[in-house]
Amino acid sequence: MVSPSKHLDTAETNALAYWHLQSFKTKICCIGAGYVGGPTCAVIASKCADIKVTIVDINQARIDAWNSQDIPIYEPGLEEIVFAQRGKNLFFSTDVDAAILEADLIFVSVNTPTKKTGMGAGFAADLAYIEAATRRIALVAKSHKIVIEKSTVPCRTAESMRKILDANSRSDVTFDILSNPEFLAEGTAIKDLQNPDRVLIGSMQTPAGLKAQKALASVYARWVPQNRIVTTRLWSSELTKLASNALLAQRISSINALSAICEATGADVDEVSYACGLDSRIGPKFLKASVGFGGSCFQKDILNLVYLSQSLHLPEVADYWNQVVLMNEYQKRRFAESVVKTLFNTITNKNICILGFAFKKDTGDTRESAAIAMVKYFLKENANIRIYDPKVPESQMRYDLTVEDNVDVDIYNKRVKVCDTAYSAADGVDAIVVLTEWDEFKTLDYKRIYEKMTKPAFIFDGRLILPTAELKKIGYQTITIGKGDVE
Ligand code: UDX
Ligand code: ADP
Repeated sequence: MVSPSKHLDTAETNALAYWHLQSFKTKICCIGAGYVGGPTCAVIASKCADIKVTIVDINQARIDAWNSQDIPIYEPGLEEIVFAQRGKNLFFSTDVDAAILEADLIFVSVNTPTKKTGMGAGFAADLAYIEAATRRIALVAKSHKIVIEKSTVPCRTAESMRKILDANSRSDVTFDILSNPEFLAEGTAIKDLQNPDRVLIGSMQTPAGLKAQKALASVYARWVPQNRIVTTRLWSSELTKLASNALLAQRISSINALSAICEATGADVDEVSYACGLDSRIGPKFLKASVGFGGSCFQKDILNLVYLSQSLHLPEVADYWNQVVLMNEYQKRRFAESVVKTLFNTITNKNICILGFAFKKDTGDTRESAAIAMVKYFLKENANIRIYDPKVPESQMRYDLTVEDNVDVDIYNKRVKVCDTAYSAADGVDAIVVLTEWDEFKTLDYKRIYEKMTKPAFIFDGRLILPTAELKKIGYQTITIGKGDVE
């Protein structure tokens, strides 16, 4: 045995590394080094020192970033885990085949965006990435593999994966397919993974399927109490992921619908949601009114559910869930319109400060962020926009607006300025619009900001986080979602 304190030469280091790698009892491969695969497998590595976890991706830049000091995803606590495990039992690589070849368990964590064209466009999930990853597994595998759906997929995707695997693999290779959806929320991913409400594992109810289910359960059992590891049928597990997100989003749309009534009646949506949430049957979570939910999951998963319902000839069910998304669109439009109306029905050439571009606080993710729709709306009204977000870089905002959302590049260059601080973004503007609930926006020196603003100085709170009474005292005209003018 080599003493760890001894200085090793290269041959010894290689020998030790080889010995170390051979000592791993189980090997996990995760295909897709994104928001789901990265944090999930980093936590598995941190909890299971005897398991080798290799996260692979076809995106070289992303893998390079995971292997650098500047990892590609901002998530509290993630960096510490990656730095502690990387090179020990956690590896990032573009060598997809090598990782598949040696793995016992393979997580498929690739992206499943909503289809933009063709059949089911705007609703159905694009399964092209899942299919490509599955075909790769079939082609490369030389021994039994447990293939785990981690990405959110439509109900019965495992069936298609099974057909692809069976039709394209060696005759002596067998596969078990499990569904193990991820329920982590961005910003609290590490906490959610370390202490999950539940881990769900769906499998076929065959002896082999149940054995595979047990094998995966035994990985989670290292740190998750047994009673939180829930095993179900494959299709139930697949549907539960869509159902959970639909139910959560439905609560937000419900409180947002009520926020419109509050504004019209003088009721206060925070008071309503607090009082409703005290009923233990309702509970307090996911009842915070907002400018609209964003993120990569809610809209996509509900649209998926709508498509599934339509495909199953259940139009009433499809309409029911679709209304959750329509209400979200309405909320964004309503808030944007209220800015224009309040600023005397025109914002042409006015300067609007946007505080927050991420879809929620504590993440740099902008997917489906309400801010994108809002900025686009203001640009159509010929406003000048100054944006500050503590975590979203200018390149991302430019990409979201010009590439993803077709804002003309010349207009972007002329009218959008991304600032380094909230103070520079708010310097001398006509209105401030808070779109992400970053904590730092609660405690800015609003008196200092007010002094330089055009008067009347308007501040719009799309997240109900600002100290409204104080702001009013300073002289601001405050407009808050879900709060009428009546005191
Ligand atoms: C969600 C689910 O919570 C998670 O279980 C699933 O795995 C992925 O989708 P995420 O999108 O990361 O997670 O964020 P979440 O905290 O759910 O927030 C989604 C959106 O809803 C954000 O824009 C957030 O600001 C908004 N929201 C949330 C509200 O507007 N009000 C609330 O009360 C809660
Ligand atoms: P999610 O939020 O679901 O994790 P992301 O888009 O953040 O989605 O990450 C998915 C990752 O999967 C991307 O980095 C993408 O490059 C990767 N990916 C997609 N298809 C494949 C594939 N066939 N093999 C390896 N990686 C893939």
